[in-house]
Amino acid sequence: MLDLFCCAGGAGMGYHRAGFDVVGVDIDAQPNYPFDFVRADVLGLDRSWVASFDVVHASPPCQSYSDLAKRNGNADDWPRLIEPVRDLLQATGRPWIIENVEGAPLIDPVVLCGTMFPGLRVIRHRLFESDMGLVAPPHGKHPLVFTHDKRKSHHGKLDQDTAFVQVTGGGNCTMANARDALGIDWMRTKVELNESIPPAYTEFLGRQALAHLEASRRGRVPGDGGESLRDSAADLEARSCVAASA
Ligand SMILES: C[S@@+](CC[C@H](N)C(=O)[O-])C[C@H]1O[C@@H](n2cnc3c(N)ncnc32)[C@H](O)[C@@H]1O
Repeated sequence: MLDLFCCAGGAGMGYHRAGFDVVGVDIDAQPNYPFDFVRADVLGLDRSWVASFDVVHASPPCQSYSDLAKRNGNADDWPRLIEPVRDLLQATGRPWIIENVEGAPLIDPVVLCGTMFPGLRVIRHRLFESDMGLVAPPHGKHPLVFTHDKRKSHHGKLDQDTAFVQVTGGGNCTMANARDALGIDWMRTKVELNESIPPAYTEFLGRQALAHLEASRRGRVPGDGGESLRDSAADLEARSCVAASA
């Protein structure tokens, strides 16, 4: 698995847990990235090297598409990399996944939320576009989130050690709670945590990607009548429910 725009490896860790060997690429040094790392500009990568991986994941910077940038009217200050990255991934001929925030111009993405994964305590919606026909678990009601705001009716009623917390911007909880809420224990800075995808998301998608690769090897491509990916995802979901209730 090639993990493009890897930062400190939230996405990469999930793919590793799903069973992939992971190599990350980022334009900045990433001393806390836990796997093999290449420092480079993604847009300058050798395409045949990118195509040498079984699957390619990309998390291009999201600032330009974020609500905050739209509200501040400075969305144009940030690069808009989704289209060139999609072109790069499609040109490889390998299966791929692009991740970004709500508001980003992704095509038919699945949306994942922390409420879908037992143990997570963040509502961090992330969109995933792919050529593999990925599926998402059902999306339940959002719980109340721990708050310091005395005007909120649930102020003082939740404990930040156990409730859902906010891990964006300054966040509203301790670093220890932010790490616990995201299911991440190796990152050292708030910036890394703010940027990260909870590994549970990409572990879930990584298992679907493995099922897709296996189906492709057997010549039974999902969506061609075989529907093996959907079967595997349903099987995965059933198994994760069993694991969660165990
Ligand atoms: C949203 S973060 C990725 C988060 C990561 N997927 C995770 O789950 O932890 C985006 C990353 O893209 C990197 N980046 C921005 N422009 C880049 C470029 N042209 N080439 C490579 N990396 C780039 C940034 O340094 C940043 O670490």
